[in-house]
Amino acid sequence: MELKIGKYMIRDWRTRDSSSIVKYANNKNIWANLRDGFPHPYQLSDAENFLSNVARQNPRTIFAIANNKEAIGSIGLRLGEDVHRFTAEMGYWLAEPFWNKGIMSKIVIRFAEFAFEKFALNRIFAEPYTENTASVRVLEKAEFVLEGTLKANAFKDGKVLDQFLYSKIGHEIRKPYAASQIVFR
Ligand SMILES: CC(C)(COP(=O)(O)OP(=O)(O)OC[C@H]1O[C@@H](n2cnc3c(N)ncnc32)[C@H](O)[C@@H]1OP(=O)(O)O)[C@@H](O)C(=O)NCCC(=O)NCCS
Repeated sequence: MELKIGKYMIRDWRTRDSSSIVKYANNKNIWANLRDGFPHPYQLSDAENFLSNVARQNPRTIFAIANNKEAIGSIGLRLGEDVHRFTAEMGYWLAEPFWNKGIMSKIVIRFAEFAFEKFALNRIFAEPYTENTASVRVLEKAEFVLEGTLKANAFKDGKVLDQFLYSKIGHEIRKPYAASQIVFR
């Protein structure tokens, strides 16, 4: 998969991306805004594990954000199951030297478009910590809608944190029946 967004792209992860992952992901400012499953410090073995897990994914839902030299971030989905099978959670991070240039806003807009189509989703959501102003701004610019605040929903770095719940609903809501086929008794 490869989606071009100006000088940047969303593409499949490659085995040789491990060194750029370590270079950029080993950063407390990134870790502080993600789940604890994202390690800190971030070592080469963490990058190798991550890449081998992604390579085994079927379908692939986690992708690299890259320029023409190297991977500079990641964006992906956690697909829901059971009654949530047409819903997915989106997560992302970008290397700090590239922050505040409008990159992730454009990436999220394009990725959501791709994800709705590729995975036949009705809903994509994200749960940034309420103090994560940059991510909130990205979601607002990508026209995600604030649905509410999840109070005391996370425990990160020794602190209880609130999270916002943002979502975007796909244009083609999956309906089991066309309205005309529903029979009222
Ligand atoms: C969140 C993140 C992906 C944003 O990427 P980015 O490419 O810098 O985002 P953009 O440049 O598209 O947009 C950031 C916006 O936040 C604003 N912003 C950043 N820090 C801010 C702050 N402290 N206060 C107010 N606004 C802030 C920027 O000015 C920009 O808004 P603007 O375009 O209206 O000026 C990046 O900061 C990151 O990787 N953070 C760590 C991981 C993370 O938070 N992931 C998301 C978890 S939900």
